[in-house]
Amino acid sequence: MRVIRSTAAMQRLARRCQREGRRVGFVPTMGYLHAGHLSLVHRARRAIGPKGLVVVSIYVNPTQFAPTEDLAKYPRDFARDARLCREAGVDIIFAPSDAEMYPGKSDGRYSAYVVEEKLSRGMEGASRPTHFRGVTTVVAKLFHLVLPDVAVFGAKDWQQAAIVRRMVRDLNFPLRLIVAPTVRERDGLALSSRNKLLTPGQRAQATVLSRALARARAAVKRGPLPAARLKADLARFIAREPLARLDYVECFDADTLQPAARAARGTHLALAVFAGKTRLIDNGRL
Ligand code: PAF
Repeated sequence: MRVIRSTAAMQRLARRCQREGRRVGFVPTMGYLHAGHLSLVHRARRAIGPKGLVVVSIYVNPTQFAPTEDLAKYPRDFARDARLCREAGVDIIFAPSDAEMYPGKSDGRYSAYVVEEKLSRGMEGASRPTHFRGVTTVVAKLFHLVLPDVAVFGAKDWQQAAIVRRMVRDLNFPLRLIVAPTVRERDGLALSSRNKLLTPGQRAQATVLSRALARARAAVKRGPLPAARLKADLARFIAREPLARLDYVECFDADTLQPAARAARGTHLALAVFAGKTRLIDNGRL
């Protein structure tokens, strides 16, 4: 396994793979890897085969964090990430610095961004207005540097995956996007690097996200109902946990992300909940 820190070296290697017809599978991450990330690595390997090159990027992208958010607190442990990547059969870790990724940004000379204008508006985009501009910008840059044949994203960030899929289509990135299932703890909590920031009390109550999903599934099993009624019920359910604060809960179409007026089997539900200062998200098909 090799660690590449410069954008020029990453792009050189990617071009060589293209010339030699060696397929590249790519898993973009912000590090502090867990079993969810490793499942994406295995999915990438399965997609490109044993002779392909699996690239994992580890980069905590500052442009997707608002000034009030947890960029400084975001957990980091490169040595541990490198060990996990080696054990998972990763070929290349691409771990650039901010100066490599955003040249000139520290003195105000960086000014090019990629914006998706429709799917980015609701849910995460409403709560975090600059977030998806940062995501689409960094993902587009990473795609240009890694030149993947296949890129694997996690379903836990459902809206992010839908936006990246739209960007890939609309901006003609020549790659296949795979969205792999969310990996969960035994008690249902979706794996996330941010779970590390939870106190034991918050951790115990954080299962309220997956419990809310289960409650919504049970509700639609009894028959379709107005989305507003389901959302109000889930808001009351979440409010029972003193350490949890609902940011949003939304019912929507899984592909278009359009809000649904009625919740029924097949409707998608996403929610974001603060446990203390840590913001957790989850989603699933009802
Ligand atoms: O999902 C993430 O970890 C990040 O948003 C991504 C895709 C690596 C871009 O920074």
